Amino acid sequence: MCGIIGGICKKNITPLLLKGLKRLEYRGYDSAGLVVLTTDNTLQRVREAGKVDNLVSNIDAQNLDGKVGIAHTRWATHGKPSTKNAHPHICNNSVGVVHNGIIENFLALKSEQQKQNYHFTSDTDTEVIAHGIHLALQTCENLLEATQKAIKTFAGAYSIGVISPTNPGHIIAARSGSPLIIGVGKYGNFITSDQVALLDVTKQFIFLEEGDIADISANSISIFDKNGLQVEREIKTSKLKNGQISKGNYAHYMQKEIFEQPQAISDTLESRITKDKVMIEAFGNDAQQIFQQVEHIQIIACGTSYNAGLVAKYWLEDIAKIPTHIEVASEYRYRNPVILDNTLFITISQSGETADTLEALRSVKKRNAAVHSLTICNSAESSLVCESELTFLTHAGVEIGVASTKTFTTQLVALALLSVVIGKCQKQVSEQQEKVIVDGLKRLPGLIAKALEQEGQIIKLAKTFKNKFNALFLGRGAMHAIAMEGALKLKEISYIHAEAYPAGELKHGPIALIDRDTPVIAIAPKDELLDKLKSNLQEVKSRGSHMIVFEDEASNVAPMEGMDIIPITHNLGRITAPIIFTIPLQLLSYHAALIKGTDVDQPRNLAKSVTVE
Ligand code: F6R
Repeated sequence: MCGIIGGICKKNITPLLLKGLKRLEYRGYDSAGLVVLTTDNTLQRVREAGKVDNLVSNIDAQNLDGKVGIAHTRWATHGKPSTKNAHPHICNNSVGVVHNGIIENFLALKSEQQKQNYHFTSDTDTEVIAHGIHLALQTCENLLEATQKAIKTFAGAYSIGVISPTNPGHIIAARSGSPLIIGVGKYGNFITSDQVALLDVTKQFIFLEEGDIADISANSISIFDKNGLQVEREIKTSKLKNGQISKGNYAHYMQKEIFEQPQAISDTLESRITKDKVMIEAFGNDAQQIFQQVEHIQIIACGTSYNAGLVAKYWLEDIAKIPTHIEVASEYRYRNPVILDNTLFITISQSGETADTLEALRSVKKRNAAVHSLTICNSAESSLVCESELTFLTHAGVEIGVASTKTFTTQLVALALLSVVIGKCQKQVSEQQEKVIVDGLKRLPGLIAKALEQEGQIIKLAKTFKNKFNALFLGRGAMHAIAMEGALKLKEISYIHAEAYPAGELKHGPIALIDRDTPVIAIAPKDELLDKLKSNLQEVKSRGSHMIVFEDEASNVAPMEGMDIIPITHNLGRITAPIIFTIPLQLLSYHAALIKGTDVDQPRNLAKSVTVE
């Protein structure tokens, strides 16, 4: 959600800023801009509405020459996407600022600053940061002190990069509520929202902590904590490789990431299972002791991660026999939930920086010290990982497509492992049951590879969506959660309105939606609810819809006119089935989006990591 990159080095910084912005574009892509401190020590800014390419085509990178610069790709919060609202924001040619987050008290600050004759040229909350630092500079020794003074007046969340001709050799970076990373280079130092933007120049990173502010020059980095005390922060070496962030031979990141799932799942299972057991230590050294005491589970997440949690509710109650509740983070954090002692509070997140999920965790810790927290996360250095007692990292690798795919299926793998280990700690899972589940999990990479072979057939089915504006997804049990994920994928990348319902609920209202123009997609695993689902399919069919049924070969759904039945695989277990049936739904959304001609990797209005409320 907004991408920041900045740097100070011994050569022209502009080409690096532009390349970094391209790599950060998944975080927001409605406008982009940069400002550099040119050789004559003036701030020179270029901004454009739209994608980073618009900016690139309007900049002569060789002639915009400066060794210090900051840049930004925006996901609009305050002020519509436009050039005037694009970052960086500048005050009196003296302070340039890029910002990720929201300054909640910006209206009060703006009115104060207007009284002091500051002139506003945008509708953003960010402009008060530039003016606030400019104001502080009048009474402070340098840019660091001025930024330290100004940020005391900001409420909300921010990560910022600041430059000024007053201190030409410095970038000031501050983090509170939104991620910011320092890249430590041989020939300069850098800031970024995500390591991927800097892999060409360094693999050495410092992850700023909450409340940190850093004064960065080409050959020094000084960091001060929230109390203003100078601190040392560890420099970590990134394991990411440049190749991991390219599209390879695929048309889109989303397609590549769908096809990476066999590998992502093997990587997530590696070192977490033995021949026929799940290793409890995979969840942390204290996991055994905590899981033995757990009496309730509360899962909190957003979007796709929430859908993974919905599947886990079935597994945790079925396998571990622990009462499990799940709620979207944005609701949970603002109500007064009853939090019982010995609750395990599980957050699920790809990014580990989703503001609502993070705040829900923080609020729970404040309300009841006797809860334990576990995060299932794909980002090792994220805030959720830092602030949770236990961590399980999904090893999905970098996910750049805005629509989550491989991170969803690896979250499911993590949650399956969790259900088994909690079940073991609670003495609910026998060795034989554990072995059956572990065997099923080990088969997953092969089963997914087989499900991916259905792509050709799914491409044909996707044509159904060409002139369609609505779709209905049906499933029963844990498959209802998978239907929800299928509907979310279709909505977000093809802009087709899609709803998911538990198939048994249809006759209580939603069946009124069904007509010839509303394709119905159903998931039919071979399980104890299959016969019920078959009856539901009859109810739909008699209303004239085109139906697409993804089935287990053993399900033997009876063919009917206007119904396409696609066998995905056969005899799946209760853990493997939701994971495998996700694959055709991902492929269907992807190909429907191609037919609709949307921007698959960067769908409108979305951004990958939602670090604001
Ligand atoms: C949908 C999608 C979003 C995210 C949600 C939570 O494809 O990616 O719904 O799942 O914004 O993000 P994380 O998992 O980073 O907390």
